[in-house]
Amino acid sequence: MSLIEQIKANAAKAGKTIVLPEGTEKRTLLAVKKIADAKIANIVLLGEQGAVKAAASDAGADISGAEVIDPAKAPFYDDFVQAFFEMRKSKGVTPDQARDMMLDPLFFASMMVKMGKADGEVAGADNTTGNVLRPALQIIKTAPGMTAVSGAFVMIVPNSDYGYNGLLVFADCAVTPVPTAEQLAEFAQASASTALSVCGIPDPKVGMLSFSTKGSASHDYVDKVVKATALAKERFPELKVDGEFQADAALVPSVGQSKAPGSPVAGQCNVLVFPDLQSGNIGYKLVQRFAKAEAIGPILQGLDKPVNDLSRGCSVEDVVNVVAITAVKA
Ligand code: ACO
Repeated sequence: MSLIEQIKANAAKAGKTIVLPEGTEKRTLLAVKKIADAKIANIVLLGEQGAVKAAASDAGADISGAEVIDPAKAPFYDDFVQAFFEMRKSKGVTPDQARDMMLDPLFFASMMVKMGKADGEVAGADNTTGNVLRPALQIIKTAPGMTAVSGAFVMIVPNSDYGYNGLLVFADCAVTPVPTAEQLAEFAQASASTALSVCGIPDPKVGMLSFSTKGSASHDYVDKVVKATALAKERFPELKVDGEFQADAALVPSVGQSKAPGSPVAGQCNVLVFPDLQSGNIGYKLVQRFAKAEAIGPILQGLDKPVNDLSRGCSVEDVVNVVAITAVKA
């Protein structure tokens, strides 16, 4: 069974409810039947009933397996407005603004997850990453002990021995442009957790990446990764993590042994934490293209409840897969 089939099977056992705020988006609508047939999750689509039905009919999509909620007519709309106002009044949000914002399906969906009306949210077929993330950051917020959200990609690299038989987790590739050392340490822990819970990698080994291995270069950027590695070891004593590593020292056993002798994870890493968003985003896309790797994600980490982002170029199958991942995370 492939990894994604395994994830779908685990999602089916979990019986979670996932809200899809882009209720008139074609690929989202076409995904509903596949999700229902495989019992991956209970689906809630957001939108005005007539508009959702018309879009489904235009797309030739069977959405009989989904519940459709129109935020404006939802019985809990007023409660959501009040809760959002209380949450954001210190940031200058007025009651009128709260009413307007709760009509925005992305904000309404995050509030559904916050209030326990759904277990997770998937959006992004029609919206940028920033637009999907902002309501989640404002409403769901980070999990206790976490200060930043990161986006991990599961990389399935064909014919490769690196990582866990070609399976690796890369982060942060999607969210925090310039993380602090403390935040990089959080990403190490969160990514190891994704490796275990989503990918089934039994023994996550985290490499903190840089352009230096164990002091081979000196620069402020290197110092940040050195500090992040020390913080990760201190805050998460169970975590198998080391650095700072160049990518080859993290992945290739012979290079790891020669550049970082005595390291418990050098040359064996299956989780790579990049020093910033530029390197992480560029890195995953290069591996995806050059190695013809499958890149599943971004899987958002560090939020108190799961919200996941789709690429605007996503396929129907991508929507199904990300819903399954979200259900498993939930
Ligand atoms: N982690 C946790 N919380 C955050 C983060 C973060 N990285 N960034 C902002 N926040 C919080 C803020 O503290 C704020 O909370 P508050 O209002 O309760 O005080 C709230 O989120 C909203 O902050 P804003 O300043 O309004 O949000 P901002 O405009 O900075 O946007 C965002 C945050 C969306 C994460 C932004 O940093 C961003 O766009 N990141 C890059 C996303 C991207 O384009 N990725 C690449 C494409 S994805 C791909 O290729 C796979």
